[in-house]
Amino acid sequence: MPGESPAESLKAESFPLALIGVRVLNRDGDSELDWDSLTFSFTQTDRMYMATCKQGEEWQSGFMQDFQNLSLSPAAGVINYGQGLFEGMKAQYAEDGNVVLFRPSDNARRSREGARRLGMPPVPEEMFLNAVKMTVKENIRWVPPIGKGALYVRPLLFGSGAILGVAPAPEFTFLVYVSPVGPYFKGGITPTSLRVSDEFHRAAPGGSGGVKAIGNYAPGMVPSKMAKKEGYSEIIYLDAVNHKYIEEVGAANFFCVKNGIISTPELTGTILPGVTRASVMELAESKGYEVREEKIDVDYALDADECFCVGTAAVISSIGTIEHGDRVVEYCGGEVGPVAMEMYDSLTAIQQRRVPDQFNWTVEV
Ligand code: PLP
Ligand code: COI
Repeated sequence: MPGESPAESLKAESFPLALIGVRVLNRDGDSELDWDSLTFSFTQTDRMYMATCKQGEEWQSGFMQDFQNLSLSPAAGVINYGQGLFEGMKAQYAEDGNVVLFRPSDNARRSREGARRLGMPPVPEEMFLNAVKMTVKENIRWVPPIGKGALYVRPLLFGSGAILGVAPAPEFTFLVYVSPVGPYFKGGITPTSLRVSDEFHRAAPGGSGGVKAIGNYAPGMVPSKMAKKEGYSEIIYLDAVNHKYIEEVGAANFFCVKNGIISTPELTGTILPGVTRASVMELAESKGYEVREEKIDVDYALDADECFCVGTAAVISSIGTIEHGDRVVEYCGGEVGPVAMEMYDSLTAIQQRRVPDQFNWTVEV
């Protein structure tokens, strides 16, 4: 029917995720959000993207629709066997007035690698990028003013078809939603206190630690909650074989600096290859730092001059103290470390186009 959006003209029976619980937000103005007190939490926005693919077939063309709940079979692969992955990126206002994404092709590539590992059809790069751009554009009023936060973009890929045997689902859904967010760690760049866990591991060799599988995250919730209860911001995970090499900080990659050399744990398949990690490495090298990807013994990190962690949500977060067993080490007198500060300033300047984007990392929506 002329004037109808694809979502409105869609018959529920023609789509496996029947549309229920539709709640359209008031689109008049954007006064309901206080941009100055954004935290890293979910705010419902206006529109979302969705596409499906039957096993062994090509992806159907996706479409935009109002943000709404999903209807899934109780036997859907994702809720029975965790067949799903997600991505995370940020859209933000740049100084030139454009809304820009940061290296979205890298997220697209990582999602394809994750899809292959988890037995799902990879979403083609062009489809991924179009979906992300459309979702940002149709929620543009939720992009915080420059410097106040970002619009967090959350692509999801999951087995939406019903399956009882432990096998890939007969149908998959690719969905993109967005939410305005502020800092991931309370206090933003203020140095965090972390605890090294000797009890829990995030991933083991041969597992799914190197991809953004949804199942990697639930097992970290209790350790993280326990650490927070005792005043720490997050957990540092050690490797599951030797129990002594640093892997990651919750949902962020780890860096330390000793005698001017920047080190980050090498990618062994158990660590998520972060887009921010790769960017910090390139940025630091371009500034003349020696950057090493290597095994980082926890004792080496405890003796380092400075430590920080990086990620899309975390950006660059300085580490004030690390506790491991009987040792508690404070870095840089509890102040933000100089390398973390330099990397934060340079990275955010590129992300907001306050300086020329020499690496061509930003992409307009
Ligand atoms: N490590 C884990 C486990 C993560 O979930 C994330 C977040 O995506 C990162 C590291 C950082 O990756 P990126 O910089 O691509 O956001
Ligand atoms: C991100 O940095 O985008 C993440 O995915 C972290 C997240 C799990 C909140």
